[in-house]
Formats: sequence, structure tokens, C-alpha cells
Amino acid sequence: MDRRPELRFRNSMETPLARDAVEATAQFPIPPGVFAETVTEVVHYTDRLFRFRMTRPASFRFRSGEFVMIGLPNALKPVFRAYSITSPSWDDELEFFSIKVPGGPLTEHLKAIQPGDTVLMRRKPTGTLVNDALLSGERVYMFSTGTGIAPFASLVRDPETYEKFDRVILTHTCRDVAELKFGLELVETVRNDPLVGEFAGDRLIHYPTVTREAFVRTGRITEHLESGKLFEFLGLPVLAPETDRAMICGSMAMLRDTKRLVEGFGLTEGANSAPSTYVVERAFVD
Ligand code: A2P
Repeated sequence: MDRRPELRFRNSMETPLARDAVEATAQFPIPPGVFAETVTEVVHYTDRLFRFRMTRPASFRFRSGEFVMIGLPNALKPVFRAYSITSPSWDDELEFFSIKVPGGPLTEHLKAIQPGDTVLMRRKPTGTLVNDALLSGERVYMFSTGTGIAPFASLVRDPETYEKFDRVILTHTCRDVAELKFGLELVETVRNDPLVGEFAGDRLIHYPTVTREAFVRTGRITEHLESGKLFEFLGLPVLAPETDRAMICGSMAMLRDTKRLVEGFGLTEGANSAPSTYVVERAFVD
């Protein structure tokens, strides 16, 4: 019987081409200087979004909120893309939340991974959405759209975040309700976690909104910021550089608009080398 991958997957629900790319793993050497890790879990939320977990190299250290370059061993020179790590730095495994871009050079293949498959990861994590790039404050607002919630998934599971800020407000805006599911599950997990739940308690506030269908809260976060609806709902004063910090992650347009608004409230951009009152990072997709 012919067991070649292209035949094996022709009758399945998978995209044969995408699956073949993963199956081709054995044909290509692992490039030097990268970790080759094993997928342990894959969860698909919608036809645009999925998350996966994989083994974590024993020597790999990162700060919650950082990203790494991820690829597949399906070419001599594999395509790598930046992925924020969604798991906290204390977790035994690594978790990622990904979009599926039709025809995307990486995600078109990555979306077909299954437990047991190999994922490549470059060794050096980096990023500005880290606690170190912000001055301490009373509250930190984490503004995200779509997969931009990824770095915050790590940060809201890190006790250090609650040591640095009294209140952690996670906003997540998506096109539809189904796309909020990762965030809803995340917040529930945090609240029920024996370790982090104790820190987070009611200090973690989730503020989901949807823009393209009916929901308890609709509209872009930028509208909620500008109109003051966000602060009214939370019963909190408007952003002020003396007390509030912001982290922003989403599309280029979302970053531009949200940056403009938080700067209007007097916040200034920080970096690892010069912590300040807000930080931004693009949610990389392709
Ligand atoms: P909208 O539906 O009005 O475009 P995407 O999946 O395209 O990245 O979008 C994720 C969410 O981000 C959507 O709800 C989208 O709203 C919202 N969004 C898109 N552009 C901006 C922006 N410039 N500022 C704030 N939110 C935005």
C-alpha cells in the first residue's frame, strides 16, 4: 500500500498541500542555532484563529510578553515569523496563538500542525511588551485586538505583573464573538489557577468588545477610549501618567490610533533601556 503523505491526506479534512509541508519534515535538516520542539496540543477556534502548545527547551528563558521567531522544518531555508509567547515564563511548555492567513508563507502550513510534529524556534526571545519597560503604577491597561492579545496572555499569568500593578485591565476587541474565545478562556483559567488566581483575584479586569456583530459591548476600543465609555464602565478615572500605564498590541492601524489616544492623555513611550508609561508592539501576521 502506498503510504506517501500526499495520498494519505488526500481524503482527510486537511488541506493536502499544507499537511504535506509538515509531513515533509524528515527531508530537511534542522538549521543550525534553532530549537526543534514537539507540538503537544493544537486547538482551533475559528477558521482564522488557533493556538498550539509545544515542548520547551530546558535552557530557554524569556520574560513574559516577549516574542520568538517560529518556523517549520519544511525547507532548506525555512520561513520564520515573530510569535509572542502566550504562556507565562513559569510554564513547562510554550504556547502560541496564531492567525491563519490564506496563502501566508508560514501560517498556511503552520495551521496544519498536529501533536507530535516539529516546530522550529530561534533561540533569542525579544520584545518591548514587558514589565521592565514600564514604570510601576496603580493600573496597567493592556489594549489588544485580534491575535494582539498573545503577549498579554503571558503577562496576565505572571505574578510579577500583579506585584507591579494593583489593577490589570485587559481589553480585547475582535470582529466577532467566536474570536473572543481564547481571551475568555484565558481569563477564566487565570482566575481558577491556584497560584496566579490568588494574585489576580478581582484585580484582573477583562473588557472584551466586538465590532461586527451583536454583543454586550460593541465598538472599537479606540472609540471607548475617546468617548470615555471605558472609564465609565470601569468606574475609574481617565488615564493619567501619574497613575496609569498602557501596553498596546494589534494591527498597524490599531497601534497608530491607540498610541495617539494614550499620548493625548499624557503617556509617553518606554523601552527596555528607558522605562516609561506606555509600550507598543505590532501583532505580526503573515
Ligand atoms: P473593525 O471590525 O471595525 O475593523 P483584525 O482582525 O482585522 O485585525 O481586527 C481586529 C479588531 O480590531 C476588529 O474588531 C477591528 O474592528 C479592530 N480594528 C481595526 N482597526 C482598528 C483601529 N485602527 N483601531 C482600533 N481597532 C481597530
